[in-house]
Amino acid sequence: MNNARPYKSERSENLHGTFAVPGDKSISHRTVMFGLLAEGTTTATDLLEGEDVMATAAAATAMGASVRKDDQGTWHIQGTGGKLGQPKEIMDMGNSGTSARLLMGLVSGHAIEARFTGDASLCKRPMKRVMNPLTEMGAGFTDHQDGKLPLTLKGSSTLKAITYELPVASAQVKSAVLLAGLNAQGTTTVIETVPTRDHTENMLKGFGVDITTVQNDNGAYEISIQGGQTLKACHVDVPSDPSSAAFPTVAALLCKGSDVILKSIGMNDRRNGIYKVLQNMGADLTLENERIEAGEPVADIHVKGTKTLQGVTVDPEIVPSMIDEFPVLAMAAACADGVTTMTNLAELRVKESDRLAMVANGLRACGVELEEGPDSLTIFGNGTPPRGGALIETALDHRIAMSFLVLGLATEKPVTIDDISPVNTSFPGFVDKMAALGAHISPAD
Ligand code: S3P
Repeated sequence: MNNARPYKSERSENLHGTFAVPGDKSISHRTVMFGLLAEGTTTATDLLEGEDVMATAAAATAMGASVRKDDQGTWHIQGTGGKLGQPKEIMDMGNSGTSARLLMGLVSGHAIEARFTGDASLCKRPMKRVMNPLTEMGAGFTDHQDGKLPLTLKGSSTLKAITYELPVASAQVKSAVLLAGLNAQGTTTVIETVPTRDHTENMLKGFGVDITTVQNDNGAYEISIQGGQTLKACHVDVPSDPSSAAFPTVAALLCKGSDVILKSIGMNDRRNGIYKVLQNMGADLTLENERIEAGEPVADIHVKGTKTLQGVTVDPEIVPSMIDEFPVLAMAAACADGVTTMTNLAELRVKESDRLAMVANGLRACGVELEEGPDSLTIFGNGTPPRGGALIETALDHRIAMSFLVLGLATEKPVTIDDISPVNTSFPGFVDKMAALGAHISPAD
């Protein structure tokens, strides 16, 4: 990694201020994708301008949308009315699994051929989880090695609707099948036994699509979409990302004397598990000004560094609602008093990196006692800050990078990460915004 830019974080106290967290990554991706499909021009405020969403925007442009930002910062996505153009070149999804998997679903129902690739991290991630149901519907996948990117997808305008029970709790797989179902013949139904984020369902409704969710006798959710519907452009006011907000939240909890307010954070019940767990750990964290904005629940998070957190057992059922927050929760657990037990974490092994291994290795290097299982992590906190003083490998994973920078604000010795660049995939401006609160994060010499 020649252009790697190592950064370090050092013990900090009294983080103070109001923090504007960038727009929600999941909602931003879907805004651009649904805007591409829609008739008319979709507008969006507070769209996340991270690299992941920009990869989706580039793909939307390659398939016929016009995507631009005006002087006031509003994004305009002029759609295709459902007639996707043939992309001329390979489409690079960068680090973004959401771009790759949702766009594969979206392209499947159109008679075009698209080649997808990504960075070294994305090219290692499993795509069969979407290829299997999409192949069953009639899409063709060629030129790939064992279901990994790069791959070529041949879509079809005569896809067959299917009923598909999700074998893994994954909003990306659910969304890919539903987006293919939009252009399939008949009614496509996805059955999820474990609820995952429902932005695709909620937002498609906002774009005028008839999509229904019912809970069956076994308690599973059945989401159905009739093929042949055209989306109507609309306005999306993107809430701030609860996953990104988790980093300054944990930072404020770990830095003594802190008092921080995070404004307008999305509080969708299928996303907010981290805040419930932190409250169970005894965090001084309150949700203020709870309200509905553009159909999504939002709240201001008021967080203070007044107490030592206590270890907890995380309910395995809450895992899908905080699937991206385990790295930063592990940092909180490392500083807590008592044992924190996290189970049902198999999916962490196939994220932007093997997050279970990356977190366990990094924490061990910082002097934290822990046990790593195949799908679990147990952290033995003793209520005092860990030693720190380690160089952490980030492996192109933005959440690993930010998590260890947060930890370094509390440890005895600084924590250094090998590269700050991955942070831009989801959280442009992270370092400056943290510094404005009083956090000591800077380039490592
Ligand atoms: C996402 C779903 C989750 C999450 C990812 C974003 C989405 O992935 O980890 O960051 O926007 O649908 P999985 O579907 O793989 O759980």
